[in-house]
Amino acid sequence: MKVDVLLGLQWGDEGKGKVVDVLAPRYDVIARFQGGPNAGHTLEFEGIKHVLHTIPSGIFHPGKVNIIGNGVVIDPVIFKKEVDALIKMGVDISKNLFISRKAHLILPTHRMLDAASEASKGKAKIGSTLKGIGPAYMDKTGRNGLRVGDIEHSGFQARYDALVAKHTELLNFYHFENSITEYEKGFLEGIEMIRSMNLIDSEYEINDFLSKGKSVLAEGAQGSLLDIDFGSYPFVTSSNTITAGTCTGLGVAPSKIGEVYGIFKAYCTRVGSGPFPTELNDETGELIRKVGNEFGATTGRPRRCGWLDLPALKYTILLNGVTKLIMTKPDVLSGFKSISVCTHYIYEGRKIDHMPFDIVNNEVQPVLMEFPGWTLQGDGMNDASQLPKELSDYINFLETELGVPVVIVSIGPDRKETLARHPEFA
Ligand code: GDP
Ligand code: IMO
Ligand code: MG
Repeated sequence: MKVDVLLGLQWGDEGKGKVVDVLAPRYDVIARFQGGPNAGHTLEFEGIKHVLHTIPSGIFHPGKVNIIGNGVVIDPVIFKKEVDALIKMGVDISKNLFISRKAHLILPTHRMLDAASEASKGKAKIGSTLKGIGPAYMDKTGRNGLRVGDIEHSGFQARYDALVAKHTELLNFYHFENSITEYEKGFLEGIEMIRSMNLIDSEYEINDFLSKGKSVLAEGAQGSLLDIDFGSYPFVTSSNTITAGTCTGLGVAPSKIGEVYGIFKAYCTRVGSGPFPTELNDETGELIRKVGNEFGATTGRPRRCGWLDLPALKYTILLNGVTKLIMTKPDVLSGFKSISVCTHYIYEGRKIDHMPFDIVNNEVQPVLMEFPGWTLQGDGMNDASQLPKELSDYINFLETELGVPVVIVSIGPDRKETLARHPEFA
């Protein structure tokens, strides 16, 4: 068997959590491979909304194995809150949640360093979620980090103290007061909880599942345009959010990657700073934000909204080797008289349809194409053949432009509001 991957093709928040939950019954194992609590993955079913940050979105399906892979960074405080909420809901995490020993820990001082770094940047700040993601990955690549497996060893406290001392020096350099005491209490409680959980060598376990014919779905976090290498650097996150991140974040070989589901909204959003060629700083942008409830699932910040960006989508489809597309949230645009799509950029006076090296200092202007809007009444719809003609035409146009089939269309936040565009997904 191979690992199928589901990841976001834009700047995050494409609806990954919802769709992983929908696809989970088809898989034996669901695994997160990168990112950490900067992610907010929303699931809705039976009238209840859940937001997951570190835990894979297959967790509500009894009998499915959920793995937090080695590429993930874990904040024990946030993780404990997530676990406590799941236990309250009756989810038996002792049977279906597993954590890689090689996943790195986010220390309370990593959060402080994130805040200090952002404050020092002033207007040039990244707009980080302030969850300590950048500093934790810096310690990982700097070979200073602490891993989940370290908590099983007696030297953990000494190594923790040494790293905190190093961070305190750095915070002094930033003239940033180290006020972690309260958070540190929660951190130590979280560590105790993690110590009592299923800690595994996930690279062996996942490959074992594959060789026994079990199916695995890898769940991406953030979006490809936030990738550390290919996103709009430096306004990116600190991990590889693309398919390649699955290999390093789970320990599976490239030859073991199967389908790659690329998920995108019918429009675009971005939260935090950085270039956004199709951003709408007008009433239309406001309307999309309001109707689409475009406010961060992790930070509550308003998301910036704009039209769909095809040069950006073509770029991320290429980087990820996307084999199947999933579209979400066309319902948000229901009732719009017309919809626009960016087909090209004007860059240095030329019309292009690729992503140039630098769109941070050298802006691109979007070339827009207009489509008639649609009115969507989702009630009673069973599959995508019942979608209004205008929306079907829009999707057909995208398929032709992007060269990849759109197999699922999501038309609402609930599990049930999901339409198949291919019999395989009925
Ligand atoms: P993720 O980070 O990719 O999992 O996405 P988020 O959960 O951060 O943001 C997606 C938001 O859109 C959540 O509030 C979802 O409940 C919601 N959502 C997902 N799919 C749809 C859809 O098709 N239509 C509408 N209206 N909302 C959706
Ligand atoms: P999900 O998985 C949207 C953005 C932040 C900021 C940049 C760097 O829910 O799609 P970081 O905290 O990672 O150092 O922030 O990345 N960002 C996200 N935006 N969805 C996310 O995750 C994000 N995770 C990080 O807003 O611009
Ligand atoms: Mg999100």
